[in-house]
Amino acid sequence: MYLTRYRWIFVISALLIFMIVALVQIHYQRKMEQYQLRVFQTIVQRSVDLVSSGYFQWTELKEAIERNDEEFMEEAFEEIRGLDPYIKEIKILNVPPDFKEEYYRIESDGERLWALFKIYDSMGEELIPDKTAYVEWDVNGILDTIGASVMFQKGGKKTFWNLEYKSKARGSWFSISFWSSLGGLFLIVVLHSIFVRSILRTHYETEGLERLVSIVGKKDHYTAEHSRNVAKIACLIGEKMNLKRKELKILEIAGHLHDIGKIAVPEHILNKPGKLSDEEFEIIKKHPVVGADILREYPELSFTVPVVLYHHERMDGSGYPLGLKDKEIPILARILAVADVFDALTSDRPYRKAMKPEDALSLMKKMPLDQKMVSILEKHLSEFINLKLQK
Ligand SMILES: [Fe+2]
Repeated sequence: MYLTRYRWIFVISALLIFMIVALVQIHYQRKMEQYQLRVFQTIVQRSVDLVSSGYFQWTELKEAIERNDEEFMEEAFEEIRGLDPYIKEIKILNVPPDFKEEYYRIESDGERLWALFKIYDSMGEELIPDKTAYVEWDVNGILDTIGASVMFQKGGKKTFWNLEYKSKARGSWFSISFWSSLGGLFLIVVLHSIFVRSILRTHYETEGLERLVSIVGKKDHYTAEHSRNVAKIACLIGEKMNLKRKELKILEIAGHLHDIGKIAVPEHILNKPGKLSDEEFEIIKKHPVVGADILREYPELSFTVPVVLYHHERMDGSGYPLGLKDKEIPILARILAVADVFDALTSDRPYRKAMKPEDALSLMKKMPLDQKMVSILEKHLSEFINLKLQK
C-alpha cells in the first residue's frame, strides 16, 4: 500500500519537476531573447542615427558624391566603418522610386539588414535627388558580440525588425526538452536514491513486516489491533514530550512491529485463557529477542531494534530479556512500554475483561514503568482514550 501510494507521488513529482524546469527554461529563454533583441536594436538604431546626421547630412561628402570623387568617398566610408565595426558594406546606389522617408529607411530581406540614406548638405536642406547611400550591418556579428541566443537567417519562424530569426541550438524546443529531461532525470535519480533507498524501502519493508504482524494476528487477533493502538499511543506520548519527527517515526514503526517476535510463540500459549505456566511464560519472554532478530535482517529498520528488544524492560530491573534498569533502557523503549501496558490493561483479554482507563492508570502508577510518561498519560487521559476509540 505504502509503495503504491509513494510510487504515484514519486511519478507525479517527477512530471511536475519536468514541467517546472521546462517552463522556467522557456520563460527565461524568451525573456533573454527579448532583451538581446532590444540591445541589438539599440546598437543598430544608434549607428543609423550617427551615420545619417554625421555623414549623409554633410556638404563636403554630398559634393564628393555628386562629382563622383571616389577618393574622398572612400575616406569618408572608412571613417564610418571605424565608427561602427559592424558595418559591412557602404555604397552609393540609384534612389528607389518608393523612397518617401525624409532621412533614411531601414530594410531587410529576411537575412540581411541595411539602411538607405538620403544624401543632404550640412544644413539638411539640399538633397541629391537620384542617389542614395546603402549601408549594411553584420547582424550576426552584433549578436555574437552581445552573446545573443538567436540568429538571423532566411526561413526563421520569428521576425524582428523585418528580419527572420530563430533561436540557436541551445535555445531550441529540442534542446529545452533535452535539458529539462536531463535535469528531470538527474532529479529523479537523486529523489530515487533518497526516497527509494530510505523512505520507500522503509515503507516497503514495513509493509512486508506488517504482513508478518498480520500472520501473528491470525494466530492472535489481539496482537494486530494492539500493535496499531500501541503505535498511536506511543506517538502521542512522544508528541507530548516534544520528540523530534524522526523519533516519532521510529515510535510509530516500532509500535506496529513491537510484538512481531510472537510469530515464534505457539498459538495455544498466545490465546490461553488461564494463567501461563513458568515454561509457557519463558517462551513468551523470548518474543522481544526474536522480534529484534527479525528486524536486524532489514537494515532500513535497524533503528527500531533497541525499541523492540527492550519494550519489556522495567525501571527496577525486573523486566526481560536483559533486566536493564532506569536510563539503561532507551527512552523510546520506555515510552513503548507505557503505551503497551496501557493498551493491554484497557483491552479485553482471553483471561480478563478490559479495565477502565482510570483504573489502569492507578495500577500503572504502582508499576515499575517510567512515571514521567505515566504522568503524561494521566494529564491527557481523555486524548488517549479518544485515540484508542479511533479505528
Ligand atoms: Fe510485547
